[in-house]
Amino acid sequence: MRMYDIIAKKKHGEKLTDEEFDFFINGYINDEIPEYQVSALLMAIYFQGLSREETVALTHKVMHSGDVIDLSDIEGIKVDKHSSGGVGDTTTLVLAPLVSSCGVPVAKMSGRGLGHTGGTLDKLEAIEGFNIHLKIDEFVNQVNKNKVSVIGQTKNIAPADKKLYALRDVTATVDNIGLIAASIMSKKLAAGSDKIVLDVKVGSGAFVKELDGAIELAQEMVNIGTDMGRETVAIITSMEQPLGYAIGNANEVREAIDVLKGQGPDDLRDLCVKFASTMVHLGGGADSFEAAKEMVLENLSNGKALEKMVEFVTAQGGNKENILNPDTLPTSDIVREIKADKTGYIKAIQSDDIGIAAMILGAGRETMDDVLDMGAGIYFNKKIGDYVEAGEVLGTLMTNKAEKIDEAIQMTLDALEYSETEVAKSQLIKAKVTCDGVEKY
Ligand code: URA
Ligand code: CA
Repeated sequence: MRMYDIIAKKKHGEKLTDEEFDFFINGYINDEIPEYQVSALLMAIYFQGLSREETVALTHKVMHSGDVIDLSDIEGIKVDKHSSGGVGDTTTLVLAPLVSSCGVPVAKMSGRGLGHTGGTLDKLEAIEGFNIHLKIDEFVNQVNKNKVSVIGQTKNIAPADKKLYALRDVTATVDNIGLIAASIMSKKLAAGSDKIVLDVKVGSGAFVKELDGAIELAQEMVNIGTDMGRETVAIITSMEQPLGYAIGNANEVREAIDVLKGQGPDDLRDLCVKFASTMVHLGGGADSFEAAKEMVLENLSNGKALEKMVEFVTAQGGNKENILNPDTLPTSDIVREIKADKTGYIKAIQSDDIGIAAMILGAGRETMDDVLDMGAGIYFNKKIGDYVEAGEVLGTLMTNKAEKIDEAIQMTLDALEYSETEVAKSQLIKAKVTCDGVEKY
């Protein structure tokens, strides 16, 4: 078999076989196939696309390029949740204890943040002492004991995806639905859960800007999961504006605690209720979505979800005081109000730019080596549709970098688009995709 022939075949729009994907992925990770040939194949795939069978074959090879985690020692149905990334997406911090409090085990591997998006691991490390470096057997024990654990993704999950992703990034081949679907699903499938719930973001802060594209991506991923024997449900949600109010590590832990107390911002709470109910239902904790939702709402109001958060944090070495009294979480020295420079209805918010503003204040990383300031970030209190007057306080920023304040404020203000006439609120939950079809809300 020759890589040249595989490239030529795809260039002409023919389907590649299992053996050909095997040859290409193996050759690439073993440095036997040069990057220029892989780049050419990626571009051919970009233009010719992948069939359902090809996407599954590619996902399967990439998934098996490294460790495949075995969670079968954990009792019960394990449901994983994945978000395609966003700004201020605090959901995992809420979902892990909330779903667990309903009796469904949560065994989750999470990642760090980069650029405008945050990562759950960084947020958990805002809690004093919290240890994300458990070995797999400790992780399994933890879930069997407490029904919840969140750890860092092991280095060797889908290594072929790391290489491919870096190459796609510099060859303008990231934004192909089949390649994105295979990339995300290979990692999710290798992480070992029985069922998968995907949060596919759409809007200014997301990979996919339009609903149709998001539905197509969701369908691809649901098909892959289905064909590989793991029930997968995708929910398409808005990333037209940051989720909740808080952006930044300690800030988002505080916001998660609010939601776990049955409070917190409406959008974040609604999203968490939707995902938690879906996960509890899929995980066999309730017979229907409605029954699951009832249980989820109950545990947010009776204190059980918060109690589980305290148990979860304590079990992983974290200081429970940080949860019981969120004022003890890290803060930054400088707190500054962000005031509107215009009057009108907020029409659009460039979420990535607010994410970048939080990053330069110290909440995120520009490169993987940057050190985070756990207390830094932004509270942005306005939503699309809100009326604001020039001079009105839109939110607050926290930082230890005095020299970055003006730039961050300007970026936040420039991220806003105004209208003189009323603007409708943005719809948060847009559609659900399962193997049975698409339901638009
Ligand atoms: N996220 C991923 O993990 N892979 C992609 O290709 C795009 C987004
Ligand atoms: Ca948030």
